[in-house]
Amino acid sequence: MDLRFEFVRRQTSRVVIGRGTTAQLRERLDDAGLRGVVIVHDEALVALAERVAAALGGASRLPVPGHEALKDLRHVEAVVASLRSLGADRSTALLGLGGGSVTDFTGFLASIWLRGVPFVACPTTTLALCDAALGGKNGVDVDGRKNELGTIRQPELILGDVDWLTTLPDALYREGFVEVIKKAAVLDRERFAELERLLPALRARDASAAEAAITMAVAMKMAVVVADETERDRRRWLNFGHTIGHALESLAAGALRHGECVALGMLAECRAAGSSVPPGVAQSLETALRAIGAPTAIPRAFARVDELWALAQLDKKARHGQVPMIVPAELGRGVEVALTRESLARALD
Ligand SMILES: NC(=O)c1ccc[n+]([C@@H]2O[C@H](COP(=O)([O-])OP(=O)(O)OC[C@H]3O[C@@H](n4cnc5c(N)ncnc54)[C@H](O)[C@@H]3O)[C@@H](O)[C@H]2O)c1
Ligand SMILES: [Zn+2]
Repeated sequence: MDLRFEFVRRQTSRVVIGRGTTAQLRERLDDAGLRGVVIVHDEALVALAERVAAALGGASRLPVPGHEALKDLRHVEAVVASLRSLGADRSTALLGLGGGSVTDFTGFLASIWLRGVPFVACPTTTLALCDAALGGKNGVDVDGRKNELGTIRQPELILGDVDWLTTLPDALYREGFVEVIKKAAVLDRERFAELERLLPALRARDASAAEAAITMAVAMKMAVVVADETERDRRRWLNFGHTIGHALESLAAGALRHGECVALGMLAECRAAGSSVPPGVAQSLETALRAIGAPTAIPRAFARVDELWALAQLDKKARHGQVPMIVPAELGRGVEVALTRESLARALD
């Protein structure tokens, strides 16, 4: 016998982001057919987790560390043991409430526990709202290697309340919007212009400006994710700023945040790309990043060509002394160019 079976899995993922959406949680879960819920939340966000539990009409809470150290198999085992003692079963939805570390961790757990249970992402940082909680990628780190174990699994529901952001320190608040500037720079010229108009209000932490910028991020990222098969190129374009940015992040070893490294990476990559990036584009980017309060000059201590070059070459796609990177050929369109040691040195000058 030689038979062939094709499986096509269709899934709907709902994204609800706005002000005061916490009050809608119960209804949105009911709409998605989800009854029992366990809230896996950042242990630093107890008051918020209690509000969310109350909005659900009561739910068990499992506090976990709300930073990168959470993304470890030891924590997976510990939370599984807690789920068992709570009497959770395969109909129980796991709701991850926290930044990207909590949504990545909970999404991973939901995709493997009992071979998969429903997952609800409730992102509480701008970075998680604009990036990490979107697209279904999740995972944990192994021996310091980020996201080495992971799955791709879309949440049944992504619900975020802009009011949750008020407790974020400025640096964390800005971080997600750097990634929105990045997305618009390579994907959408009109949204870039719209974002430019919003920047002063965003910097002043105006809630409606935040909602508008997050909405743009969701639209841009989800369009690429949904069309993944046909849009490989565009998905790759989202790496803009991350080739030099990741090298810088490793070199800085915690002294610079991811968003700061991406801001600095985008500007350095534009300089390294030379004539592939029109001067007006680089200028608009720099103005936008300055307006949101992101750094625009690489600190002297980290402008070290040899070390950054060695780190950039660890990139999976590096070959023959060249590292492919994406820059905007114009606002709203990415192009792949090669980073070399010489062009990196020029960018750091
Ligand atoms: N899956 C993806 O596609 C994707 C994309 C980008 C990033 N990520 C992942 O996201 C993670 C980073 O996420 P992050 O930047 O949100 O950081 P994080 O989850 O580490 O949180 C950063 C800090 O913010 C605090 N915090 C969270 N919400 C808060 C709030 N409302 N008020 C006050 N403090 C709050 C946390 O306690 C923590 O100290 C990384 O693990 C990264 O790999 C994933
Ligand atoms: Zn990033």
